Amino acid sequence: MSIRESSHEIRMTTNATTNMTAEAPAAPLLEIRGLGKRFPGVVALDDVSLDIRAGEVHALVGQNGAGKSTVINILSGMLQADAGTIRLDGVPVAIRDPQHALALGIAIVYQELSLLPNLTVAQNLALGREPSWRGLLDIGAMNARARMALGRLGLEIAPGTPVSRLSLAERQMIEIAKALASNPRVLVLDEPTAPLGQREAEQLFAAVRRLRAQGVAIVYVSHRFAEVLALCDVATILRNGRKVTTTSLAGWSEARLTDAMVGAQAERYVASARTAGAVALAARDLRFGHRVRGVSLEARRGEILALTGMLGSGQNEIARMMGGDLRADAGTIMRGDRRLRLGGPSDAVAAGVALLTEERKHEGILPNRSLRENIAVASLGDRGGPAGFVRAASERAEVRRVMSDFGVVAASPEVPIRTLSGGNQQKALIARWDLADADVFILIEPTRGVDVGARADIYRRLDALARGGKAVVIVSSDLPEVLTLVDRILVVRDGVIAAETTPAAVDEEKLNLMIQGAAAA
Ligand SMILES: Nc1ncnc2c1ncn2[C@@H]1O[C@H](COP(=O)(O)OP(=O)(O)OP(=O)(O)O)[C@@H](O)[C@H]1O
Ligand SMILES: [Mg+2]
Repeated sequence: MSIRESSHEIRMTTNATTNMTAEAPAAPLLEIRGLGKRFPGVVALDDVSLDIRAGEVHALVGQNGAGKSTVINILSGMLQADAGTIRLDGVPVAIRDPQHALALGIAIVYQELSLLPNLTVAQNLALGREPSWRGLLDIGAMNARARMALGRLGLEIAPGTPVSRLSLAERQMIEIAKALASNPRVLVLDEPTAPLGQREAEQLFAAVRRLRAQGVAIVYVSHRFAEVLALCDVATILRNGRKVTTTSLAGWSEARLTDAMVGAQAERYVASARTAGAVALAARDLRFGHRVRGVSLEARRGEILALTGMLGSGQNEIARMMGGDLRADAGTIMRGDRRLRLGGPSDAVAAGVALLTEERKHEGILPNRSLRENIAVASLGDRGGPAGFVRAASERAEVRRVMSDFGVVAASPEVPIRTLSGGNQQKALIARWDLADADVFILIEPTRGVDVGARADIYRRLDALARGGKAVVIVSSDLPEVLTLVDRILVVRDGVIAAETTPAAVDEEKLNLMIQGAAAA
């Protein structure tokens, strides 16, 4: 905090020579005026203006589809605006493409990861800027550079590791290191903490604060309002492609931010007691390499169970083994007194177990297929009927129903799903999974990238499933989510269940300590 204030003062004194009043803020580094962008059937941005200042963390806040990524894609040169101007240091710029944006000092960390999995960490960090020596790639220099960039984020990853071997969270941190490697003046982060655990998120926040103190302008997009309030100085709120306001966040609460974003009093999810019934799915002594080292647990009807832990502790693998997406090295999975043989997710679905994994870009989405096909794919063939057209009609009706249940916003169910905003894609995957007629629901990071309002809808839906006698298991690194949604919490550490607790017995701080292994039981 004090570092930031002093950097502010320095700016004030430089400005004094231009005869500004003491309160006048520094001239904006980036001035965006009257930005407009249309897509077929959608006005993504309409007359949006905002200023981004050096040494400021500026939040872009809005519901799924509000236009946040569109602003960012225009700043990065990925998209061209239909209307409006952008000035950098007072000079109008036409940002042609991502290379040009980088040359101007604008670096973007995307909502969807863009690393090349078959290359090493160092190669990914150097892409387009490979150091060479007499025309040969200088691997030593490349690795040294990578080690430095990783060190800035406090990461201990060997530069020669192929990206495909890294966890989603590690890949996200590499993505950020890649953006920092260009020494940007404007750093744009689109939901950077979505795949991160608490500890990695804190490393990221520390890096963001250091950059702010160095005078970098930071644009920050996140649906996690607790971190927006902790990290950001000002926020611009977007609603349906229009700017509602730009405001200092001093004195703001999460509730106020939510209401300003939604434009009304947002309906909140209120937890109430549920009663656990019979065991629906049990795991006995599951093992997977070094990641899972003997885990037993029971998912009961009528309850929501959470697995949480630091990244890479094994919680995702446990869920994926139980959902048939990962074959256990050892151990058993029982449905009642029947032992399941899970050769793949379809075996799990046949056994009444539905799994939603974490990584929509690679595992979930069929990008060029329509929204309707993406939602219906898991339950195709379920809808019997005398003729194909009856099936098609009932499929369309059902798809429309779940779209409205989950608030999936799109011009039509027939548009390719890749044209939807990130959060709307995630909602569509949840809707797909909801159509599956299952008894046990396992979801990894279910509300990743989903806006606060829709998150409450998803919580209500999961609550209804549990109350209807289903067993629900979530893997979540979002501690407020764990504490409001579930009945029972299993803390996974180093591939074993290290502790069991309930939301009533812990607060966020205590749970975080348990996760890090710092709390004496
Ligand atoms: N390439 C595209 N083709 C068609 N429509 C698009 C395209 N990109 C974005 N849109 C539409 O523009 C609108 C704004 O999308 P944008 O991705 O900016 O939302 P967002 O605020 O980033 O949402 P989220 O929080 O879900 O990421 C949405 O209605 C989206 O469907
Ligand atoms: Mg987005």
